[in-house]
Amino acid sequence: MLKDTKPQRLTIPHIRGRKGKDKIVTLTAHSAPMAAIIDPFVDVILVGDSLGMVVHGLPTTVGVTLDMMILHGRAVMRGSIRAVVVVDLPFGSYEQSPQQAHASAVKVIQETGCQAVKVEASHGVAETIEFLVRRGIPVMGHIGLRPQAANVDGGFKAKGRSVAERDGALAEALAVDRAGAFAMVVEGVAGDLADEITRAVSVPTIGIGASPACDGQVLVTDDMIGLFDWTPKFVRRYAGMRDLMRNAVEAYAADVRSGAFPNTAEMYTLKPKDVVAS
Ligand code: KIV
Repeated sequence: MLKDTKPQRLTIPHIRGRKGKDKIVTLTAHSAPMAAIIDPFVDVILVGDSLGMVVHGLPTTVGVTLDMMILHGRAVMRGSIRAVVVVDLPFGSYEQSPQQAHASAVKVIQETGCQAVKVEASHGVAETIEFLVRRGIPVMGHIGLRPQAANVDGGFKAKGRSVAERDGALAEALAVDRAGAFAMVVEGVAGDLADEITRAVSVPTIGIGASPACDGQVLVTDDMIGLFDWTPKFVRRYAGMRDLMRNAVEAYAADVRSGAFPNTAEMYTLKPKDVVAS
């Protein structure tokens, strides 16, 4: 066997062991260059099915397919060397039965090389998580606001703001924990509920629109770098990439129209030996 000289990726047991310790930094990526930029700074890269919206212009994540997740998952694996890479199982690829989920997860892991899959906590998901974990597939759960349920919920709605919803979200989290998930995303729930869930479960919680008490945080990178005019309330923009890109494109268009681009330094010339002395 060849000695592996590449830096080692973080592992699932390492992430699982960070419960209550230093915060788990997570961001999404869907391309090799984006993965390469974020990899040195994060612990987990999530190839989230939000790529359906932020890359493919879909209205929700419901239109995302397993093949799309695999294509983007492979790109992210090529671009990263250190972070744990988790790929979302998309809508329709795991809810039918634990066996369907197993076939989808094996395909994703074998074809991308990622270390784990993420599933949203739909009906029966605990049984599915247990089935996958027993067969050697690390699973991250996703509770609270579930983007794949947008059609059922009538949009993307924060959870845990009524007593019934609070009980439901806590029960979901406990079921995902008992089923053997190594971590769970807690999305769009009231802050004090996220705190309660974080105290109640044995695995790390990764919050998004949740609470700083979670064991880690995740944001959609495209939102965080300011690629869009609109973002959900819980997103903090750390850059204004949309304006930067618009300014760059505007300047390029003006240079092309005026003939200022390209200039001589940006053009090829004859090789010196072929220049004929006049
Ligand atoms: O798809 C995604 O990007 C996600 C995050 C919002 C957690 O699931």
